[in-house]
Amino acid sequence: MDNRMSMEFSALPENEAFARAVAAAFVMPLDPTVEELTEIKTAVSEAVSNSIIHGYSVFPDKDEAKIRLECSVSTSGKLVIVVEDKGVGIEDVEKAMEPMFSTAKDEERSGMGFTVMESFTDRLAVRSETGKGTTVIMTKYLDVVSGI
Ligand SMILES: Nc1ncnc2c1ncn2[C@@H]1O[C@H](COP(=O)(O)OP(=O)(O)O)[C@@H](O)[C@H]1O
Ligand SMILES: [Mg+2]
Repeated sequence: MDNRMSMEFSALPENEAFARAVAAAFVMPLDPTVEELTEIKTAVSEAVSNSIIHGYSVFPDKDEAKIRLECSVSTSGKLVIVVEDKGVGIEDVEKAMEPMFSTAKDEERSGMGFTVMESFTDRLAVRSETGKGTTVIMTKYLDVVSGI
């Protein structure tokens, strides 16, 4: 049977670790490898931190700054993770996804977030509209032990 979860949380830095832990706990029944687990946690962290740092950095009403995490998995091991914010959005998604591109170079950003998400998953799709928000969809095929 397929399994699915969805949650919404405040765009606060402490919730980056929370979201990462939730995604990891969600995939546990599929018995992921340590490597898969690390990749999932890192990819979720990158997407959530982007929503907090970039999506909502200049958001007028911080109480309304919310992030949605949705995970679904099929018995075959197809995992889909969605991270969505209603923040400022991205003007040029293609440019934003280029390695080393960052609009926050002055801070400690490497511009490698999307590159990490891309390399740690099998498919990365980014939908964004200026003023409306950003949705990151990551698909990863887990090596499921047959018979489970
Ligand atoms: N959720 C988001 N909302 C608005 N802008 C974003 C979001 N995610 C990414 N961006 C934009 O894409 C750029 C690249 O993101 P990323 O590869 O993670 O690098 P970094 O976070 O180090 O800047 C960011 O600098 C930012 O301009
Ligand atoms: Mg980033």
